Amino acid sequence: MKKVLVATEKPFSKVAVDGIKKVTDAAGYGLALLEKYTDKKQLLQAVADADALIVRSDKVDAEVIAAAHNLKIVVRAGAGFDNLDLDACSARKIVAMNTPGQNANSVAELVFGLLVYTVRNFFNGTSGTELKDKKLGILAFGNVGRNVARVAKGFGMDVYAYDAYCPASSIEAAGVHAVESQEALFDTCDVVSLHIPATQETIHSINFDLVSRLKKGGILVNTARKEVIDEKELISLLQQRADLKYITDIKPDAHDEFAARFPGRYFATPKKMGAQTAEANTNAGIAAANQIVGYLENGITKFQLNK
Ligand code: 3PG
Repeated sequence: MKKVLVATEKPFSKVAVDGIKKVTDAAGYGLALLEKYTDKKQLLQAVADADALIVRSDKVDAEVIAAAHNLKIVVRAGAGFDNLDLDACSARKIVAMNTPGQNANSVAELVFGLLVYTVRNFFNGTSGTELKDKKLGILAFGNVGRNVARVAKGFGMDVYAYDAYCPASSIEAAGVHAVESQEALFDTCDVVSLHIPATQETIHSINFDLVSRLKKGGILVNTARKEVIDEKELISLLQQRADLKYITDIKPDAHDEFAARFPGRYFATPKKMGAQTAEANTNAGIAAANQIVGYLENGITKFQLNK
């Protein structure tokens, strides 16, 4: 019997796990769960006899791959796959996939939860401001960016986007103003929401020069990855510009320093919450399970990352 391991340091909702089990049961596979693990050793042990692995942001590095003697496929139930060592997978001919789009609405909704909380002064009882008529900049117009644009229009925001890999015509077709560079996006907007992946190109790319272009009272929202921020430079900018705010769903390495130095201008969720909804868990988890069955039974490699 083939074994599928779901290894989630941050567990899926029960309804999502039930949905995954339905798919694996129907395929005649066994399902093992490793949730809320605190030590990598637990993952190394659990993965030893797994044929397939479903993870979230859990790190699947060369050591995990080496411990996974039977592994044929790993699926990151989510979008960003910076946690997967694709070379290590390829070296063992293990197929790696993600489930693009499945948790996008969940992340987009959180952006607005964070924004309303911020413009209402963290609900401290004082008068805040509204989002309506403010200029929102979306950096990277992928699945999450597109959902952010849709919700922003409901708030009556004026929406702009930049994406190095998405043609302006496609951005404009979604009813969003396309700008020609990320600098132009920060120059134009009151709020910038980050939706770039963490890659060689983007790591530390959100730096002093870029963020300093935000208008007076500007807000930077990060529901993407902490690695894209140059934390040192952002701290130094927030020090110089007392009007700016940084709101994030991914605690920076320098969280304690941000929190201590910028009270009222900095907020980080205690745990990354963007994709933490029953719907997102179910969509991404079941998609991952179906992709595993599709690959193991029929060789379907749609969404393969390491081609
Ligand atoms: C993603 O890349 O899909 C999101 O960042 C969600 O990550 P998570 O599954 O760790 O919550």
